[in-house]
Formats: sequence, C-alpha cells, structure tokens
Amino acid sequence: MKELKVDLKDKSYPIYIGSGLLSKKELLLKHIKSKQILIVTNSTVASFYLKDLIQGLEQFNVEVIELPDGEQYKNIEYINQIFDLLLEKKFSRNSTLIALGGGVVGDMGGFAAACYQRGIPFIQIPTTVLAQVDSSVGGKTGVNHALGKNMIGAFYQPQCVLADMDVLDTLDDRQLIAGLAEVIKYGLIRDLPFFEWLEKNIDLLLARDKDALTYIIERSCINKAEVVAEDEYESGIRATLNLGHTFGHAIETGMGYGKYLHGEAVAIGIGYATDLSHRIGRLSSADVDRIIALLKQAQLPVIPPKEMTPTQFIELMTVDKKNVDGNIKLILLDAIGKATLPMCVEDTMLEQTLENYAG
Ligand SMILES: NC(=O)c1ccc[n+]([C@@H]2O[C@H](COP(=O)([O-])OP(=O)(O)OC[C@H]3O[C@@H](n4cnc5c(N)ncnc54)[C@H](O)[C@@H]3O)[C@@H](O)[C@H]2O)c1
Ligand SMILES: [Zn+2]
Repeated sequence: MKELKVDLKDKSYPIYIGSGLLSKKELLLKHIKSKQILIVTNSTVASFYLKDLIQGLEQFNVEVIELPDGEQYKNIEYINQIFDLLLEKKFSRNSTLIALGGGVVGDMGGFAAACYQRGIPFIQIPTTVLAQVDSSVGGKTGVNHALGKNMIGAFYQPQCVLADMDVLDTLDDRQLIAGLAEVIKYGLIRDLPFFEWLEKNIDLLLARDKDALTYIIERSCINKAEVVAEDEYESGIRATLNLGHTFGHAIETGMGYGKYLHGEAVAIGIGYATDLSHRIGRLSSADVDRIIALLKQAQLPVIPPKEMTPTQFIELMTVDKKNVDGNIKLILLDAIGKATLPMCVEDTMLEQTLENYAG
C-alpha cells in the first residue's frame, strides 16, 4: 500500500492507495471518532461493495443511503434526502459520513457532510478511476443545477481517502476510459514526463494492467495533492485543473446530464482548448497533434456533439465559476506540461474555435 499526504496544515489528510483496502478496517477505524456512521453510496456500487465495507463495522450504528445511479441525480433534491435521514436518525456533530462510489457519490456525500450541522467528518472511498485520480482528493464538493454544472457546493476536506485498486475490476471499459481524461489532464497542465509515460503505456492501461493503473492513480494524486496544497480555494494555480472543463461542462449541461460522461466531455473540452491555444499562437501544432493522438489512443471521444451550436456553447460557458464579471475565462496551454492561468481570449478567436474545431 502507498500512503500519500494532502498537506493542508491542520486539515491535512492521507490518501491510501492499494489492493484489498476495503477489508483493512484498521485504516478506516483510525479516522472514525464516533458511534454513528452514514454510508452514502448508490445502487450499483452498493450491490458490489457495500457488504465488504460494512463487514467489520459491527461496533458502530451504521446507516446507509443508496442514491439512484447517475449524474442526473446529482442535485439538491437528493442532498435533502441525505439530510432527512441524518435528522431522522438523530446524527450528531461528530458522526462520520462515508462516501462509497464514484465522483457523483463523492461530491454529494462531501457536500452533505459539509452542510449538516455546519460540517461533520467524512471519508472518501472512491470506486472509479476518475474518483480515485481526481474528485476524491482536494475537497471540492457539490451538486449540479439545471442551469449549470457543479454550481452549488462547498470546499470541504475529507478525513482520508481510501482508494482500493481492486474495486476497479467491476468498472466497465467506458467508465475506466473516461477517467483517463483527467489523468491525461495532469500531464498536460504540469507534468510532461507523465504525459510521455502515458504516450508509451496507454495500451497497458486499456488492458487494465494493475501496476500501470496503480502508477497513474498515485501519480495523479501526487499532482492533485501538490496543486491543492498550494491553492486550496482556487485563487490561482488550482484553476489549471479545469483544463477543458469550461467546454466540457457546457457539453454536459447542454446535452443533458449523463449523456456524455464527465471524462468524455472533458476530453472533447481538452480538444477545444488545444485548438484555441494553437489558434492564439500559444501552442505548437506538433503539440496539438500529440495531444489529440493520445486522447484518441486512449479511446476517448474528441469530436464535439453535432447537436450543439457555437451560440449554445457561449451561452453555457458564461455560467462558469472561473468567470469574472460575466467574461469567459479559460485555461489554455503554452505547451504540453504547461498550462496558463485563467485567461480571456478575443471573442473572434473563441468563435473560430467553436465553429471550426472538429476533433
Ligand atoms: N470534486 C471534484 O474535484 C471533481 C473532479 C472531477 C470530477 N468531479 C465530478 O465527478 C463526477 C464524475 O465521477 P465518475 O466519473 O466517477 O462518475 P459516477 O460517480 O457517475 O460513476 C460512474 C459509473 O460507474 C459506476 N461505478 C462506480 N464505481 C464502480 C465500480 N467499482 N464498479 C462498477 N461500477 C461502478 C457508478 O455507479 C456510475 O454508474 C462528475 O459529477 C464530476 O463533476 C468532481
Ligand atoms: Zn473533471
């Protein structure tokens, strides 16, 4: 097992990465300081792993809430259901909430924990590649609104993150691949050697080689932890983690939550950001080619949905947390391994990208 640290002074916490961690209860027990535990999960993940998690927690009063499975349920209505249960069962302030699932469950469980009685301890047990490499680390929690992705939320750090590699065995290929978009993102924004490693080893990942998967989870978590430690509340460098996301979120919202997986929308968004970075003279065409080639090699989509018009993109992109006074701000690339801070571009440049980028 590997143990990494997210260094946030008195809010620091470990990320445990390894096989068989769900059954190593001593790791979890170190972080539970209460009798009451609420496990937030969804119906799919529960059917695979709820039993394994509960086994060995007999000494606690364990309640479980199984949310319906899907991005379309990541909204305030279901957060309310979590509050209902917490209140009905009289959960107190030191109770622990455990989020067992992918990014949707993690974001929702974390947000419920952040709000209930102004904050109760919570633990992330991420069960998708995407959640293990990205969403479970760093304390961004929240839900979608019909008008904008992740628009309601809070920064709230977990007590620990427990990434059990074995749970990835039941994840389907489409989900595994979607998670690789965020992995490639780390290479693009700050880690050229990692990008090069991915170029060489992507087939191993697609073949689910355990060592290769473990490596990308560790390396991604190291990247994320460094960025978060430097800028917990996203006043600067943390925004670079949003590469491709302004376009991607527009696709998720515009096409209806759940149609494109988050990672798929981000991959197409990275395609747009790459095109725009080149168009404004920042990124070389050789780098553009390498980026698109790696996304394709990873079997990620790069072609935009034909249903969405440039006007619709612009409309949706004006609802973004990076925007200032209504101006669209984007993370772009100067080179592979070097992202810009949020920046505005000329409207005509953005329009040209939206009209011409075709994957
Ligand atoms: N908080 C952050 O910093 C952050 C970062 C990136 C993404 N996100 C959010 O994360 C969400 C996407 O997360 P996701 O890609 O994990 O999606 P997800 O949570 O919807 O999980 C994907 C699918 O896999 C299933 N699943 C989960 N674990 C499984 C397992 N071990 N075996 C079989 N099936 C399993 C789920 O039930 C679901 O159907 C988005 O809402 C996105 O906005 C948040
Ligand atoms: Zn993301």
